[in-house]
Amino acid sequence: MNGREQWGTRAGFILAAIGSAVGLGNIWRFPYVAYENGGGAFFLPYLFALITAGIPLLIMEFTLGHKYRGSAPLSYARMNRKTEWIGWWQVAISFVIATYYAVIIAWAMSYTYFAFNQRWGEDTGGFLMGEYLQRIDVVSGGAPGDIGALVPGVFIPLVLVWIITLGVLFKGVKRGIEIANRIFIPLLVVMFFLIVIRAITLNGALAGLDAFFKPDWSEIMSPGVWVAAYGQIFFSLSIAFAIMITYSSYLSKKSDITNNAFITGFSNSSFELLAGIGVFAALGFMANASGVAVADVADAGIGLAFVVFPEIINTFPGMNGLFGVLFFGSLVLAGLSSLISIVETFVSGVQDKFKFSRRKAVAIGGGLSALISLLFATQGGLFFLDAADYFINQFGVAFAGLVSVIAVSWFLKKLPELQTHADGVSDFRLGSWWKICLSIITPIVLGFMFIQNLIQNLT
Ligand code: PHE
Ligand code: NA
Repeated sequence: MNGREQWGTRAGFILAAIGSAVGLGNIWRFPYVAYENGGGAFFLPYLFALITAGIPLLIMEFTLGHKYRGSAPLSYARMNRKTEWIGWWQVAISFVIATYYAVIIAWAMSYTYFAFNQRWGEDTGGFLMGEYLQRIDVVSGGAPGDIGALVPGVFIPLVLVWIITLGVLFKGVKRGIEIANRIFIPLLVVMFFLIVIRAITLNGALAGLDAFFKPDWSEIMSPGVWVAAYGQIFFSLSIAFAIMITYSSYLSKKSDITNNAFITGFSNSSFELLAGIGVFAALGFMANASGVAVADVADAGIGLAFVVFPEIINTFPGMNGLFGVLFFGSLVLAGLSSLISIVETFVSGVQDKFKFSRRKAVAIGGGLSALISLLFATQGGLFFLDAADYFINQFGVAFAGLVSVIAVSWFLKKLPELQTHADGVSDFRLGSWWKICLSIITPIVLGFMFIQNLIQNLT
């Protein structure tokens, strides 16, 4: 236990935690989720979820890692042998996510390169599915579930993504993860600020922002909106993925917990807000240029980033190459710093469990997920990617979060002990709100979400 690696500085840890949190979810998920769920009115459930679940759980996970000084499985095992499986379950979720998260970063890498001369042409949707992804049902008449051939255009950047990620992890916590985030995150912030500034000065930007912020209070009481807010907070803060426990297990004994959690949580949300502004300003420009309503160009996920944005970049008034490179480049940086954290969870878990060296754990754990991810670089890849993503969202995140709060607060009754631990090292003390949020509010809301989800799946 004495030989555990450590962060070099407090800033190093915070940057790594922010690096994990700020990812594809901020840039392509948040703007659309907010827009779809009430626009300006969404901020109410969103902030509620952040304050009552996001930050309290982040504090809980930071405390678990800091107190028990282990990867997620080892920390849960040290708290109580009966809960080790919760850690492994979270590690398993992370493992699945890593396999396809890497693929999307690989696409962003290709598109960074394509952006220089808008290689995607006029028909950006056709280019994505046909020429670039070679989707099997589009180009060679196979069924969506067929694997087909490996797609070299995806395969090559994917190998690059894994070389970078595993290379960073090989170097360890201080000289790998910390240094990578010290470079990636400041660069990402600068690049993203440039994008946002350019976007809000475009013609039509105001109409886009108006569409984004205009509050629609009519749906505020509908459960779906609250489910969306909690789902976004969990995914976005990388909570219940074993990550934050792992990262905080590398803190030195005297490091602050509570303040670091607040800094991480608010930085992530600020970045989300910034992304929402940038994305919707650009969508407003696009709508204006093609004479349609913002609603007609708003899209989510893959469609937003790889179909609509290339179109926007095509229509750009000058320097469109630069704007494209900034946009896709920031997806790559945000994605890589998250991927590093996801893979580190199982590297660390395997290291602790089997007493492997870091290098061996990276080679085995990281190597395995890299190999599996090659499945998504085939002509049938998109089909599997959708399936994996659906599976994770239905059975993973919120449920794993629910189980962990119930185990810690109700079964093991550990909250008072954890609070004492956090208060002992932190810049400021936790009030009773923390225990109330974790033991009452969060289980009720998440339990409700889970039941709601079940009903939806059964009907
Ligand atoms: N928090 C990251 C994002 O917003 C996603 C992520 C989820 C990263 C799970 C790691 C683990 O994109
Ligand atoms: Na995020």
